[in-house]
Amino acid sequence: MSRRILIAANWKMNGSFAVNTSLLQAINGIQIPLIIAPPSLYIASVRQQLVGTTLKVAAQNVAAEAQQGAYTGEVSAKMLADAGVSYAIIGHSERRQYYGETDALVAQKCQRLHEFGLTPIICVGESLAEREAGLVQTVVERQLTAIIDQCGIYALAQAVVAYEPVWAIGTGKTATPADAQAVHQFLRELVAKYDKNIAENLYILYGGSVKADNAASLFAMPDIDGALVGGASLVAKDFLAICHAA
Ligand code: G3H
Repeated sequence: MSRRILIAANWKMNGSFAVNTSLLQAINGIQIPLIIAPPSLYIASVRQQLVGTTLKVAAQNVAAEAQQGAYTGEVSAKMLADAGVSYAIIGHSERRQYYGETDALVAQKCQRLHEFGLTPIICVGESLAEREAGLVQTVVERQLTAIIDQCGIYALAQAVVAYEPVWAIGTGKTATPADAQAVHQFLRELVAKYDKNIAENLYILYGGSVKADNAASLFAMPDIDGALVGGASLVAKDFLAICHAA
């Protein structure tokens, strides 16, 4: 099947009201499926500015614990749904690395999102040491299987997976299209062992130093369904060029 392309912009901890507005004005005419993940403080403002466009808003994280309660600093899936948010990134390597998020915690977050009708963007990916040790498939299989075991395979019918090799994030080093394709194919075949239809329809995005000059060759791969873009999503002309490569 010829695959559809979805692009998600992870702004990480960047932006301001003024900067966001000017970026959104530059990109809001884009016609391809596009998701913007601003810092949580800016979600409502970004969403308001996207009314009337086809762009959707994602959170960069969600609380694992509960709908509400004494969890200082957390934002629940129920609150995200209340704010009109459609997607949330979970399991990003920066959360795993800097905040100690485990596979089990990521699976719990996935469950919370589904309880409130949000679509998780589930990040998986190996570190450089794991790649050099030949553990790429072992790591991404463990990360994705944790979700399937806890949430069931049908959770992936309403999910996006993002393969982000940790060594490629923000480093300027991109996986070659062939290397990325091999992991994407592995992930799709893994899902297909449970359910072929879900596997076929699953968006599997690539993330890690996606730029204007490498996007087209990545998008040409049969199992790469788009990109989760960090740094380049903060510069309108770079992001537009990535979108135009789709
Ligand atoms: O979520 C996005 C990824 O971490 C990729 O970031 O495009 O700056 O490498 P990057």
